[in-house]
Amino acid sequence: MKEEKFEFQYEVYNDISELDEKDAWLLTEARSVTEQAYAPYSNFHVGAVAMLENGEIVAGTNQENASYPVGICAERVLLGSVATIHPNVPVISIAISYSSDEVKSDHPISPCGMCRQSLLEYETRTKHPIRLILSGQVGKVYVINTAKFLLPFAFTSDELI
Ligand code: THU
Repeated sequence: MKEEKFEFQYEVYNDISELDEKDAWLLTEARSVTEQAYAPYSNFHVGAVAMLENGEIVAGTNQENASYPVGICAERVLLGSVATIHPNVPVISIAISYSSDEVKSDHPISPCGMCRQSLLEYETRTKHPIRLILSGQVGKVYVINTAKFLLPFAFTSDELI
């Protein structure tokens, strides 16, 4: 028997002012697009904004439903739009933020398990890592260099060939 370890590194910034201009701009967009979320049930408004390899910008927000499981997270709304509007174009970075009347938006959130699986699929199909820039409306910013780090032992299409 031998034990193995999974670990990864990520960057922690004290606030948006420490980011370079492009990342700061993308995060500002993600913070602001939370206003377009449709989240009357959770009141948790999530915004995700992608910068593509061809320079295009695409945004997504969570869209809830009276039939709760029908709701979709911001990240998957975003990836669906990217794949439709700019097929096969790699995503360089995605900034993700949130806002709420009920909880403070002062720390980063990270994508849910289902969104991690979707992000990984997009990385695999475009053969390009996606940088994640995570932050609330204020406060610390995490930068993770590939979504793959968030899903160890992932199930991928490799198993189906
Ligand atoms: N949500 C997202 O849009 N992205 C995440 O990464 C986590 C959760 C949404 C789903 C639901 O509409 C609300 O936030 C509360 O869970």
